[in-house]
Parts: sequence; structure tokens; C-alpha cells
Amino acid sequence: MKNLKLDRRMAQLVLLQRIELASPFLTKLRKTFGRYLFSKIISKYFINLKEISKNYSKLMESELSSILSLLKQNQRILSIGSGLGGLEIAIMKKFNETKITFIEKNYISKKIKYGWDDENREGYNDLSLLKNLIIMNDIPKEQFSIFDYDKKNFPSDKYSLVISLYSLDYHYDFNIYLEYLKKNTDENSIIVFDTIRYEYFNKIFNYVKIIKEDKNTIHKSKRIACKMFKRK
Ligand SMILES: C[S@@+](CC[C@H](N)C(=O)[O-])C[C@H]1O[C@@H](n2cnc3c(N)ncnc32)[C@H](O)[C@@H]1O
Repeated sequence: MKNLKLDRRMAQLVLLQRIELASPFLTKLRKTFGRYLFSKIISKYFINLKEISKNYSKLMESELSSILSLLKQNQRILSIGSGLGGLEIAIMKKFNETKITFIEKNYISKKIKYGWDDENREGYNDLSLLKNLIIMNDIPKEQFSIFDYDKKNFPSDKYSLVISLYSLDYHYDFNIYLEYLKKNTDENSIIVFDTIRYEYFNKIFNYVKIIKEDKNTIHKSKRIACKMFKRK
């Protein structure tokens, strides 16, 4: 895939969603000045747009390869917590008949925490930037739709694949989407997400497969592909 086109505001946001994109210099500034100044000032004025766009594109390519075996043409995909959607753009380019529905938050927390949030209060997205980024990268409007999590008017489609990288059950409890996902998937649907408690999902699904492991990060999470909710 060619490098994604981003403007400076998008690059700033991507950096908050994927802190591993920070250069050693930016990481040092973040440690010295703290998360608030990093989110507000440093990520705004000290970024190298070309570098971030190159590295974000590369990172999203590697995420694509981690789920490639689950993808095919003409799927209806739900993406929960896509961030700025680099992975989803890569999917829609490769499979131009596949349609993606996004559910995301439409605000950026003042001081971003990268851990677990029981209340699911943290948000780091701007839905107009998400939409613009997808369009700027030549995806037709008909191929995607975006829903604001806090408005709770989610679509009632059935999805064959649900993707949630480093969002659902990584930053907040899977259970907040449990009933919605039960209703909007069927026994062939696959749900992919990153978690540190993969054993727990054997109680929820009949089928759980680890497709990627992060051994070098603080969270040591696993990416799992799950199928068939256990129905009591
Ligand atoms: C760490 S970022 C990951 C972004 C992207 N999936 C990636 O891999 O680069 C987590 C994302 O989850 C979003 N988020 C938080 N709570 C959410 C919710 N209840 N529903 C959907 N998205 C949510 C945040 O706004 C943020 O964009």
C-alpha cells in the first residue's frame, strides 16, 4: 500500500492512538513534560508529518497481515475503536466490495491514559477527521459508515467480521458490547480483538484462537479470533 495521506491534525491524533509511532525524541519530550503537555502541545508542534505517515502506513500494513486470513471480498465488517482507520482503509483498498461500519468515540480526553478504564471514559478520536482521512485516501463514501458510540444509535446489520484492535477488552470491558454483538453476528461471524485475559473468552465463545501475541509490550496481550457465542 502507498503511504497514507494525513494532514497535521490527523498525524497528531494518530500519535495519541499509537504511541509507538513517537520518535525517540518525542518519547523523551513526553517523559520530561508529561502526558498533558504531550497531548496538547508537543504532539502538535514537534511532529514530522512525513515520518508519521510512513510509519503509520507500515504499522497498519503489518496489522493487515495479522488478520489477512480472516478477510475476503464482499464482507460486511464492523470496526470498534478503529482510531483513524488506517487498517480499515487498507482492507477497503484490497477488497473493494467489502463494506465497513465504524463505531468510535467523538472526543479526545485531556490526559490520555493508556491502561484499562472501567468506566470507558477515555476517547481519542474525532469522527470528522476519521471521515476525511478515509475520503482523502480515495475510498468511496458508499463503502463505509461511521457511528458515534455515545449516541447509541447503532445499525442493526449482521456482520461477518468484527475487528477491534487495542480497543475492546484492551482499554475497556468487552461486556459493554456483549449484547449488541450477540444480536448483530451469527454462528459464522468472527470477532477479533486484543486482550490480556484470553482464557476468560472460553466461557463466552465456543471457539477462541490466538492469532498474535505481543510479548514485548507492557500489557503482554494476545490477539484472539472468536466464534459462536455460548447461548445458555
Ligand atoms: C489505542 S486506540 C486504537 C486505535 C486503532 N484500533 C489502532 O489499532 O490503531 C483505542 C481507540 O478506541 C476508541 N474507543 C474507546 N472507547 C470506545 C468505545 N466504547 N467504542 C468504540 N471505540 C472506543 C478510542 O477513541 C481510540 O480511538
